Amino acid sequence: MSSTREKLIDLLSTHETDFISGQLISDQLNISRTAVWKQMKNLEKDGYAIEAVPNKGYRIITQPTKISENTVHWGLKTEWLGKDIVHYTTLPSTQTKANQLAQEGCSHGTVVIADKQETGRGRMNRKWYSNNDAGIWLSIVLRPKVVPNQAPQFTLLVAIAIAELIEEELELTPSLKWPNDVLINHKKVAGILTEMQGEQDQINYMVVGIGLNVNHQQDMFESEIQQLASSFKIEAGKTFSKIELIQSLLQRLEQAYQDYFINGFSSVKNKWERYGYLINQEVTYTNANQKKQGIIKGIQSDGALLIETKMKQIEPIYSAEINW
Ligand code: BTN
Repeated sequence: MSSTREKLIDLLSTHETDFISGQLISDQLNISRTAVWKQMKNLEKDGYAIEAVPNKGYRIITQPTKISENTVHWGLKTEWLGKDIVHYTTLPSTQTKANQLAQEGCSHGTVVIADKQETGRGRMNRKWYSNNDAGIWLSIVLRPKVVPNQAPQFTLLVAIAIAELIEEELELTPSLKWPNDVLINHKKVAGILTEMQGEQDQINYMVVGIGLNVNHQQDMFESEIQQLASSFKIEAGKTFSKIELIQSLLQRLEQAYQDYFINGFSSVKNKWERYGYLINQEVTYTNANQKKQGIIKGIQSDGALLIETKMKQIEPIYSAEINW
């Protein structure tokens, strides 16, 4: 926490239910009582509703609905994920920014959020349409002590956290299309892009990019993806608070990450298969530039997709594009 304003918000957030006296704030922040009052007026200008009661002090009643480092921090119950948050109104891509920050040495768990992305990136160098503030566009820097071929497991781990978020907040059951798509009613509502930098036997850092189509109306999607994409709002019929979704997602992700290091990938495999899309169904898939057909059987204990080939053999697939 650097600025007086941030320290003040932090202090008020530790007194969510009670009042904090002007004198205590003035002592803790080392500013005059008049300066405290001016800071409160500035917070009100930014959309905070503050209750001030003589002889009791101050408390924040409601937060602004706009995303900022402060509004995401307020009420975020994580130990390390999102302790450092960097928010921009517009970026070319949070993924590019997070990679840059990671190279400059930012902390494990740093989260980069943008309201809009001008050149959002998807898997296989595809465009990710995100030049609007209806969605959640964020990238997380992680520094796990794992070997590079474990990295794809994190995509599946994140996909499950998103699926659980959807199940709880939308009361709908999503499907996970291997490796990185989250679908509701066969339409894509979220995507994950995992990139990493490392040596042969150790990851240096990983950047996990998450795009959630939250409050989009159908006509907000570009014509190329109109038939394929949907949003939380379209599927659940209501508008969502992006701040609350980000907080819930980060809390779930931190928990899932910790569980992974305690229990390994086996619990991830079982959970993933519960949401797995087209399991036991025949699909066409493109692998090493070849179009093939097979039946999806689930995922292997290392995260590879298991496909039963025409010869009735079960093959692990590490990279493929699945069609149906
Ligand atoms: C995909 O489904 O192909 C992956 C989409 C990932 C999109 C997110 S949005 C935040 C982050 N920044 C990007 O440019 N891409 C990822």
